[in-house]
Amino acid sequence: MSKKLIVAIDGPAGSGKSTTAKLLADKLKYLYLDTGAMYRAITSLALKHNILDDEKEIINLLERTDIELTYSDGNSRVFADKVELSDEIRSLEVNSNVSDISKIKKVRQILVKKQREIGALGGIVMEGRDIGTVVFPNADVKFFLTATIDERTKRRTKEMSEKGKHVHEDMVKESLLNRDKIDSTREVSPLLKAEDAIPVDTSFLTIDEQVNFIYDEVAKVAKSKGVEL
Ligand code: DC
Repeated sequence: MSKKLIVAIDGPAGSGKSTTAKLLADKLKYLYLDTGAMYRAITSLALKHNILDDEKEIINLLERTDIELTYSDGNSRVFADKVELSDEIRSLEVNSNVSDISKIKKVRQILVKKQREIGALGGIVMEGRDIGTVVFPNADVKFFLTATIDERTKRRTKEMSEKGKHVHEDMVKESLLNRDKIDSTREVSPLLKAEDAIPVDTSFLTIDEQVNFIYDEVAKVAKSKGVEL
């Protein structure tokens, strides 16, 4: 019997998760899910409603909002009740607040439930911080991507400047380090490498090299499970 696989890709910001996960999903013809975009969406809405400090209100808002993610042709989009938030979820303000919103236990429960529903049938590449540890601890293949802080800073600064946001590298670095710290030390589902995740240091790899490496690992697992890719 051929079933489709669940591929989990975790790691800190700027480690190459999104680029790799999208290209891998394209290559496999699997779904792609950026779970960070969900945490960003609720953060963006909380900012808009001016309720950042009110956990109860944030949970209320999340419970009554339909967050939808779409992906096609390398383009991932986010909607809340059909209103597109794709650009605003990448703002500096969201960057500075998303880690604090992601610490809220109930926010995680609601979003993890949604992520499990989306991935339940397999045939998905899901990226985040806790996919291999919490969302799908039984994922078929797990990767944990890392890169040096200087490399991650360079990538993020370039990415932002390509979108017309010119920010000094020192500020980007500080923001990444701050998010790393909150994401890795929070009580609920901290950013952690799952024991059985394959570590991939992308600091000195080209995008092609990292995608090919990951694809080959997925192919090995698929073969061992009798799954056709
Ligand atoms: O992947 P990203 O940088 O867009 O994620 C934004 C934030 O969302 C990240 O700093 C922590 C949070 N996040 C999380 O807590 N769990 C996930 N599975 C994905 C993201």
